[in-house]
Amino acid sequence: MSSWWQTGIVYQIYPRSFQDSNGDGVGDLPGIEQRLGYLQALGVDAVWISPIYPSPMADFGYDVSNYTDIHPLFGTMADMDRLIDAAHDHNLKLILDFVPNHTSNEHPWFLESCSSRDNAKRDWYIWRDPAPDGGVPNNWQSRFGGPAWTFDEQTGQYYLHSFLAEQPDVNWRNPELRAAMLDVLRFWFNKGIDGFRIDVSYRSMKDAQFRDNPPNPNWREGMDPAKQVIEKYTRNTPDIEHFNRWLRQVCDEYENRVLIGEINLPPQELVAHYGRSLDGLHLPFNFNLIFTPWEATAVRQLVETYESVLPEGAWPNWVLGNHDQHRIASRVGAAQARVAMMLLLTLRGTPTMYYGDELGMLDGEIAPEQVQDPWEKRVPGLGLGRDPERTPMPWTSAPNAGFCPPDVTPWLPLNPDSTLVNVASQLDDPHSILVFTQKLIQLRRETAALNQGSYRSLSAPDGVLAYERRHGEQACWVILNMTGEPKTWKLYENLGETAVLLTTESEQPNITQNTLSVRPNEGIVLMS
Ligand code: NOJ
Repeated sequence: MSSWWQTGIVYQIYPRSFQDSNGDGVGDLPGIEQRLGYLQALGVDAVWISPIYPSPMADFGYDVSNYTDIHPLFGTMADMDRLIDAAHDHNLKLILDFVPNHTSNEHPWFLESCSSRDNAKRDWYIWRDPAPDGGVPNNWQSRFGGPAWTFDEQTGQYYLHSFLAEQPDVNWRNPELRAAMLDVLRFWFNKGIDGFRIDVSYRSMKDAQFRDNPPNPNWREGMDPAKQVIEKYTRNTPDIEHFNRWLRQVCDEYENRVLIGEINLPPQELVAHYGRSLDGLHLPFNFNLIFTPWEATAVRQLVETYESVLPEGAWPNWVLGNHDQHRIASRVGAAQARVAMMLLLTLRGTPTMYYGDELGMLDGEIAPEQVQDPWEKRVPGLGLGRDPERTPMPWTSAPNAGFCPPDVTPWLPLNPDSTLVNVASQLDDPHSILVFTQKLIQLRRETAALNQGSYRSLSAPDGVLAYERRHGEQACWVILNMTGEPKTWKLYENLGETAVLLTTESEQPNITQNTLSVRPNEGIVLMS
């Protein structure tokens, strides 16, 4: 028997940008509740909401100052309780973001830890003496630029922060910190939350000897400055398996819950996070499609590699977009957006969709004075900023697209094309990418071969990715033309009686007994 998180689809909501219900230009929990009907009709199974906890918003919620409450911008705990019930009434699971690697510098734990060297919570964070010359303890870098260490004048030591100085890293080797963090999971599980997406889970344990990271020989001027070193000692250290197990043990106190880890690693290293006896994370996020060239051979190789290294019994998953990556339609081009959606939703494993990708949303246009993202502010001009993929969801063609009232300034601007690219217009157009995505999700839901079948690559001409998904007697073929050229080829395998279940185009493709033609940028699902 498969679990909901295996056969289902996860949909990520960036809560600031989904639906504003109180006219302050920022999305909120009651806004999400209003849109549950949309999500149910879209056909997804679970909703993951990026952080909604109290936070000074130095990193838009990824700097948590209280793990068991709701930021007033997003609503109240009563709103959250209502949302949990309403989501379940809509047959949707609710997944929250858990940020275990760091807190806000305004979290009471950190304020105590800072107060003196002998405070009981001193060791809840990672403090080190200055180097003999008074400088930073080692060469560790913040992901957002500059050293990962900030000096605290009052107590004369440096504290570690893998991200902003406003996001001090906690010390998971301290049993009291650990117990407090694990109780956070229990708090939300007891409320009925169905799982967690765990922020940078693989950074949670650092090298106990604080060794310098080795220099990166491939780094060049103009690249992300944090990549000047190879992160050997600051992420994916050997004892991360303990961290994964601590979380899993708490999760296993409850039934039917899921843990999804944010881990940016190639397949060979990623799969260790399932745990030696599958006692780690249920789904270590697989981001490798995002970093693979959009080219059939490269994608086929990636899928085959990932499939070949998955431990026995481990369940795969795929991601094409999130709040940290440029929009998929901007990365691969609007013409390939449907092919991308078809790939995501027909590979073997749990897909995670990013809000707005079902509309083919492009990156937004952010003028310099509109920049919000701290990363872009600290390291400008390298294309690292994440505002473009966080622009508000366009619901209608009205001013501000139904995201917030017309006379309110949204926290980030609507995309310039939102009068055309929005939910209402696309629902009215049978050939829109939204209607196509709904059909694709429906097909996936009702076809066991697609939602749980095996994977096998099929031969295809250059530029075409083709694979079979099979469950018992049921077999589907997915054919994706990843180029702008038409392709026709003779099949080695006889198709026999074939039905076209879905095409990205408005007209049926041309198929004969053993010859297949696909149009430029076309994807099809066949049942043979
Ligand atoms: C990963 C999150 O996805 C990103 O948005 C955030 O800035 C960092 N972790 C720090 O929490």
